[in-house]
Amino acid sequence: MSKKFTILLLLILFFGVYNYWIYTQSQPTTKPALSKVAFAGQQLWIKNNCNACHQFYGLGGYLGPDLTNVYSNKGEDFIKAMLNSGINTMPKFEFNEIEKNSIVAYLKEIDNTGFYPDKKATFQKNGWVIINYKNE
Ligand code: HEC
Repeated sequence: MSKKFTILLLLILFFGVYNYWIYTQSQPTTKPALSKVAFAGQQLWIKNNCNACHQFYGLGGYLGPDLTNVYSNKGEDFIKAMLNSGINTMPKFEFNEIEKNSIVAYLKEIDNTGFYPDKKATFQKNGWVIINYKNE
C-alpha cells in the first residue's frame, strides 16, 4: 500500500470517527426563557401589537413609553388599571383577570432581565461603555 493511500485511509477514518462523536453528543438542555404564564402574556403582547407603541430596551414603537422596567417602577396594580381603562392613545383592552395576570407576569420577567436606560453605565472618551454591575 502506498504512503498516500494509507494517509487518505487514515483521514477518512478520522473523519468518520469525528463525525460519529459530534453527532452522538447529547445536546445541551436549554431552559425556556419564560415561564408558562409569562409566555401566555407574550402571546397576548404579540396578538395585540403592544410593540407598535411600546418598547423593550428602547426597541419598538414610540407612541407609548418604554416598558422594560414598568413592573418595578409602577407595579402590578398600576399595570392592570392601565389595561382596564386605557388613557389618551393607550387603548382600553377587554382582558379578563387571567389574561391580565399573564401580561403582568410577562412584564415582570422582562423587568428581571435588566435596566433600561442603564443609569449605571458610564461613557468613556474613547467610546467604551462601562457598566457597573457591582452592588446590584
Ligand atoms: C396605540 C398605541 C398603544 C398600544 C397598541 C398599546 N399601548 Fe400601552 N400605552 C400607550 C400610551 C400612549 C401610553 C401612555 C399613556 C399616558 O400615560 O398618557 C401607554 C401606557 C401603557 C402603560 C403604562 C406605562 C407607564 O409607565 O405609565 C402600560 C403598562 C401599557 N401601556 C401596556 C400596554 C400593553 C400591555 C399593551 C398591549 C396589550 C399596550 N400597552 C398597547 C399606547 C399604546
